[in-house]
Amino acid sequence: MAKILLTGGCGYIGSHTAVELINAGRDVVIADDLSNSDKSVIDRIEMITGKRPDLYVSDLKDKKECEKIFDENDISAVIHFAGYKAVGESVLSPLKYYRNNLDSTLSLLESMRSHLCNTIIFSSSATVYGTDGVVPYTESAETGGCSNPYGWTKFMIERIICDTVLANPDMSAVNLRYFNPIGAHESGLIGENPSGIPNNLMPYITQVASGIRDHLNIYGNDYDTPDGTGVRDYIHVVDLAKGHLAALEYAEKHKGTECINLGTGVGYSVLDVVNAFNEANHLDLPYVFAKRREGDLASYYANPKKAYELLGWKAEKTLVDMCKDSWRWQVYLKNSENKDGGK
Ligand code: UFG
Repeated sequence: MAKILLTGGCGYIGSHTAVELINAGRDVVIADDLSNSDKSVIDRIEMITGKRPDLYVSDLKDKKECEKIFDENDISAVIHFAGYKAVGESVLSPLKYYRNNLDSTLSLLESMRSHLCNTIIFSSSATVYGTDGVVPYTESAETGGCSNPYGWTKFMIERIICDTVLANPDMSAVNLRYFNPIGAHESGLIGENPSGIPNNLMPYITQVASGIRDHLNIYGNDYDTPDGTGVRDYIHVVDLAKGHLAALEYAEKHKGTECINLGTGVGYSVLDVVNAFNEANHLDLPYVFAKRREGDLASYYANPKKAYELLGWKAEKTLVDMCKDSWRWQVYLKNSENKDGGK
């Protein structure tokens, strides 16, 4: 059976997508350099689905390694998650980000061409709407004006994919523009596990709740939003993963490139998330208001209509689901670290 290649498939969104694809009867092969993930995620995908995806520990920038995966497997489509993703680090080390994120995509597209693999789904981001976008973001809105190199790599890769498809009419692509994925699989076996101090809100919250960090800093309470804190479109990672399956099914039937938002269309403030987390898990999270974080926007969320019209997909899970599942995963992490003697 033809296989679906997930680059970065051991990561947060990739692993949840692997589960949804396997549950839908797809054969999955994962390529990951494990730079920001652990290969034990393969065991846990197997525990959830009963099927073990093949893993290539590969650096896709290396053309030979990339070719090997295509030589050894009949790949009918690629879902491309692999890439560095820390906004702050990308500002400090732009060349590292451009080299890694762009080179791996170029190798991948070249291997796809030489092996007549015509379908690609790309892990893009709402960050491509830049800093001047009009809320809610609609796909036809102008892109660019990104505030950091990470965002520009997403913008550039969208362009590279679009041009490749334009030149090769037998190809199809979907650039999925994610909003703010949080939550974890309801089994509690896979989730987000950032190394070092988390940049993003939910991993920070769960680490405070489990005692790893002292308190949450809420970056700014003087924004022009209902309670003064930043507003985002949080989407459950399992809903997001299902969006990839829907996009794949769409791309298998159509040619050309589409850019599609994956969000809920609803904005929640930082305080909304903290309150929902406390209520869902019967906790009382310590927080302080801190100054605004550089580069943050006050408020943005998706117009999710196109995803529904084209893919028949919409987000189903609630903020309470996201908070409960994130916490269940953090508890699993803590217990497994205790079992490993604190490793
Ligand atoms: N926040 C805090 N305290 C924290 C962390 C975050 O108050 O410790 C606030 C932020 O100021 C913001 C909100 O929580 O208002 C969400 O912040 P995140 O860092 O979780 O997410 P961002 O919206 O900043 O960034 C996300 C992705 C990026 C992507 C960007 C734009 O992490 O990859 O959306 O789409 F580029």
